Amino acid sequence: HPRPERNVGRASFTSVAPNRKDDVVSAEGFTHDVIIRWGDPVTKRAPRFDVHHQTPEAQAQQFGYNNDYVGIIPLDGRRALLSVNHEYTDPELMFPTGTDELLKKKIEMAAHGLAVVAIERGRAKGSWKASDPRRSRYNRRITASTPLRVDGPAAGHELLRTKADPKGTTILGTFANCSGGTTPWGTTLHGEENFHGYFDASGALDPKQADAYKRYGITGQGKGWKDVDERFDLTKTPNEANRFGWIVELDPLDPSAPPVKHTMLGRVKHEGCNVTIARDGRVVAYTGDDEKGEYIYKFVSRDRYQRSASPAARRHNKTLLSAGTLYVAKFTGDGDADGVHDGTGTWIPLASEKKSYVPGMSVAEVLVHTRVAADKVGPTRMDRPEDIEPNPVNGKIYCALTNNSDRGKKFTTDEANPLASSMTRKKLGEPLTATSGNRNGYILEVTEGRGGSCGKGYETSTDFTWDLMLICGDPAAQETYFAGFPKEHVSPISCPDNVAFDAVGNLWISTDGNQLGSNDGLFRVPTNGPERGRVQQFLTVPYGAETCGPLVSPDQLSVFTAVQHPGETDDATFEKPTSTWPHTDAFPRPSVIVSYAK
Ligand code: FEO
Ligand code: CA
Ligand code: CA
Ligand code: CA
Repeated sequence: HPRPERNVGRASFTSVAPNRKDDVVSAEGFTHDVIIRWGDPVTKRAPRFDVHHQTPEAQAQQFGYNNDYVGIIPLDGRRALLSVNHEYTDPELMFPTGTDELLKKKIEMAAHGLAVVAIERGRAKGSWKASDPRRSRYNRRITASTPLRVDGPAAGHELLRTKADPKGTTILGTFANCSGGTTPWGTTLHGEENFHGYFDASGALDPKQADAYKRYGITGQGKGWKDVDERFDLTKTPNEANRFGWIVELDPLDPSAPPVKHTMLGRVKHEGCNVTIARDGRVVAYTGDDEKGEYIYKFVSRDRYQRSASPAARRHNKTLLSAGTLYVAKFTGDGDADGVHDGTGTWIPLASEKKSYVPGMSVAEVLVHTRVAADKVGPTRMDRPEDIEPNPVNGKIYCALTNNSDRGKKFTTDEANPLASSMTRKKLGEPLTATSGNRNGYILEVTEGRGGSCGKGYETSTDFTWDLMLICGDPAAQETYFAGFPKEHVSPISCPDNVAFDAVGNLWISTDGNQLGSNDGLFRVPTNGPERGRVQQFLTVPYGAETCGPLVSPDQLSVFTAVQHPGETDDATFEKPTSTWPHTDAFPRPSVIVSYAK
């Protein structure tokens, strides 16, 4: 293990102050390198990026736009594979003025999806850089047009069949990939999140699907992709929308294997998916549905994880997400008299691979229309459940509930979603003002099991206890709570989005949409011991950017962060970009960075 000052989990640092700089600002004693930017070569055949003469063919070989999830698969001590999501595109920031509209759409389709990029250690301890793609047999791009395999109980179901895919087992593309997870068997998972906004309609929508479309916010108002590929026209291809909203599993170590859409994990606006192994060997996967008032889900596998390193065991483990039981969470408070937002909860079953627990819906219907199914069993409407991940040290599960401006209006408050009003500020230096709804978000902590059997290993339990470990915001605001830690010693934090852990069990939180006037950033907070709740800002990202990833390297020397959509602000246009980070040219470039001790 590295010396404490180089160990990102143990090093002490002074928190980064809130700011509006067009740069990554690291805590003193730390620095960062840019590993790979939008447009950098990924495959062997990738041409050099030329923003003024970009083509869809070039983009399909280059690093995509808006990097979000970052997974790492180690190859040996010096080399590893980055597995990255390219969630969406910002056309107003990507193209020179006057670019043909149809060409833009084709390039954008190629800028979505996933990337596998070989990286190697840099000269400084803890630094990493992209390897020469011409020497990597793993580098790979998946776009909105790459064939993916469908797996699980809904594969082949009528609701997934189209004219181009009458068997309902091969889907072209993955997009809106937000967060993800890395499995114990060395594959990466990628959540298809805001897929509803990709489908147009040239005429009427299929009346048979009207209710389900509505529940997922599918209106036929898309991005004009139907002009490039008519499967994005719901009037012509009504089932195409049912083919997105899944958890995708990618094997970065097998470049020829198509990624897999796992129908057993349900179809929602998946933020990410994180897997742990319970004490009986079954695997448990947690996933959030990121929209106001949506639910938290978990999956428990039917079969058991095989610990052997043999190829046969790995093949077996790659089938674990194909059969099991999907649950949705209900939270019950124990009252506010104890001064803590906490209580008990249950996981309500929705479907197993052969049995539906929802009256009137088949297994496949539950999995394709998971929101509709969940509505029938009474789970708790949460404040936008984003990333959710088990802490490998204390075994508890941590979920970022990013915000909900409609809490207290469209959604009534409850002990797990207590705020109908919160303190925000529009600009740094201005005073806080009361704003309706939950604007700064929470960190929810779940302990699986009840009574004598609690925590690590009991993830298959259908009972749990929970508490709100953090009520985010400016520590000066009365409503904020940092697990009881003295507020004068914590950083302001707003809109938690992604979570990760280091080897001592600290929670790392990246934010999206700061409501306190600062740029977004990355925070470290202990979950146990006397410093539990001491939130410290580790870095801030450039103007207009969202902080994604994050990921602590297994050797504890490095933190990987995806800097997503620098310059994305209300006034974002190419004529007047609000960010040019990483200052390569006039075009801001989403990039993956690595932070390490100087
Ligand atoms: Fe893509 Fe929920 O953030
Ligand atoms: Ca309570
Ligand atoms: Ca996110
Ligand atoms: Ca987000």
